[in-house]
Amino acid sequence: MPIIIEKLTHTYMPNTISRHIAVDSVDLTINEGEFFGIIGHTGSGKSTLIQHLNGLIQPTSGRVIVDGYDMSDKKQRVKGRALVGMVFQYPDYQLFDSTVLDDVAFGPKNMGLSVEEAKTRAEEAMRTVGLDPEQFAEKSPFELSGGEKRRAALAGIIAMRPKYLVLDEPMAGLDPSGRRGVLETISALRKELGCTVIMVSHSMEDVARSAERIAVMNDSKLYMTGTPDEIFSKTKELIELGLDAPQTARLAQLLRERGVPVPEDIYTNERFTEWFRGRMSNA
Ligand SMILES: Nc1ncnc2c1ncn2[C@@H]1O[C@H](COP(=O)(O)OP(=O)(O)O)[C@@H](O)[C@H]1O
Ligand SMILES: [Mg+2]
Repeated sequence: MPIIIEKLTHTYMPNTISRHIAVDSVDLTINEGEFFGIIGHTGSGKSTLIQHLNGLIQPTSGRVIVDGYDMSDKKQRVKGRALVGMVFQYPDYQLFDSTVLDDVAFGPKNMGLSVEEAKTRAEEAMRTVGLDPEQFAEKSPFELSGGEKRRAALAGIIAMRPKYLVLDEPMAGLDPSGRRGVLETISALRKELGCTVIMVSHSMEDVARSAERIAVMNDSKLYMTGTPDEIFSKTKELIELGLDAPQTARLAQLLRERGVPVPEDIYTNERFTEWFRGRMSNA
């Protein structure tokens, strides 16, 4: 079953002078098993939107239905929330126990699993995200590097085996190799666990590589949805919106403007290289 977002509007501080409509009439369906990317510039409403998926915040109007559970209903929300694992933008907020293992085991324990089961699941999850329990289990979360913290936060969530894995800027602040590592882990996880992944990122590069379908948020509204091919064939439009289109997409667009006929579906390094090689061998 899908996640259905219907005419969702969220207004912060309603009835005050600082009233701000952060999400405005968004309609969106996320299908089971999809790798769904959400992009948009800072402040466009991405985090606000996804915080509705586990009922962390409530719509000002509209509805969110997770697997048939209406998240505005208190009883149904408890059931819906159990299906959604949310990894927040700032992992420090999620790490609070004295050891990494305790931290990762916290969620499963809270679900009612025994201490032993929770520990087993936590160790499994740590291995899945590439944190060797031998090395990391007894460390303090605060001794971890940025990338390791993100992995630990991710492990804590996947240890609960959510059906929907929601990630808010999981690669933010990491160096390129850290980014690649976390992104690869997420893709591998999805294959292994078969969960639906919803990933927010302001990096189109990262989303272009991994997502099967993409939503673009702009000024609190859903600007467009489509496959990466559909979205990145509109690179010019995205740049005009102030979005950081993938570097390769920008280069391709620049070449088009100079009269070089680069096809619209060239927006990753891999495709560009392939296209360029083909052109050179024909020259
Ligand atoms: N708790 C809050 N109270 C008031 N305004 C907020 C709050 N959280 C976010 N906003 C505002 O809502 C808008 C959307 O924010 P957010 O959803 O965090 O966007 P994004 O994740 O795309 O950067 C921004 O203008 C932000 O300042
Ligand atoms: Mg955000």
